[in-house]
Amino acid sequence: AELETFIGRLPKAELHIHVEGTLEPELMMALAARNGVALPYADATAAAAARARFANLDDFLSLYYAGTSVLLTRRDFYDLADAYFARAATEGVRHAELFFDPQAHTARGVPWSEFFPGLHQAVLDALAKHGVSAGLIMCFLRHLGPEAAAETLEQALPYRDAICGVGLDSSEVGFPPALFAAVFQRAAELGWRRVAHAGEEAGPEYIRSALQDLGVERIDHGIHCLDDPQLVAQLEANAGPALTLCPLSNLRLQVYSGCLEAKLRQLVCETRVPVTVNSDDPAYFGGYVCANYAYLAQVAGLDAPQLAALAANSFRASFLLDAAAKERH
Ligand code: ADE
Ligand code: ZN
Repeated sequence: AELETFIGRLPKAELHIHVEGTLEPELMMALAARNGVALPYADATAAAAARARFANLDDFLSLYYAGTSVLLTRRDFYDLADAYFARAATEGVRHAELFFDPQAHTARGVPWSEFFPGLHQAVLDALAKHGVSAGLIMCFLRHLGPEAAAETLEQALPYRDAICGVGLDSSEVGFPPALFAAVFQRAAELGWRRVAHAGEEAGPEYIRSALQDLGVERIDHGIHCLDDPQLVAQLEANAGPALTLCPLSNLRLQVYSGCLEAKLRQLVCETRVPVTVNSDDPAYFGGYVCANYAYLAQVAGLDAPQLAALAANSFRASFLLDAAAKERH
């Protein structure tokens, strides 16, 4: 309990958080009612029960995309992001870099001119309203392929200065990073920072490819680096790029069935790979960032100084530092 108080008070940056994954069952039901969208749940309790168990990443993703059906207007997206910032503030989050999935909305006929201003206004208000500074990272859905990603990048150009980076998410196995090399190259030329989900369900070769082919500054998840000691040695030697670990997500999506706790302990206690702690999709995985720190502390036996070091990593790996400054550190 003492350690939990410490975790709550520790200033933290959250670097791996999908805004669509912060849609709590209560807000989902309220937006469904407001917008006249039919959902297959009688109430928020029933909606929450549907999130209790996931067999794997794709099993989760189908519910996650279904949840977005209630998000239609600017106001809906503002309310979604604002609710996250309010909660994050209570958890000691001082800076957040939020992923959003444009294609999850454009594919349903919700245009950039509706969802982006809602998200962006919530980001602009978050510092004064909640004491949280924030950035937006647009993710390409890897299952829709590189042409759709390139089209999405073009649609984002009017909002170029309001976006800090690009990412890559959705179903991993079968959609290797190299497919997206050209669109990531173009993103870099536009001055956007680069990250990618890699090594969540897929193996270490996806992490290697994200580094080599996409030039990413962080690896989202990356837990499967442990399957390749040479890759671990490379990440240790270069002091990065950091991994944005999401322990409760990995648990709930069963990415290391049976031995996750040993893997988490190994990564944090037996390697010098820089790790940050994040919640991924907290409304679906049963815990915001503090619960993720607490779970990691429990399985890896971490004390307060080790937890403080993880929080320090989160600011060091953030885009608060420009790329040149990061090189020097
Ligand atoms: N989209 C939202 N959460 C995700 C995750 N954990 N992995 C891949 N895509 C996602
Ligand atoms: Zn994620």
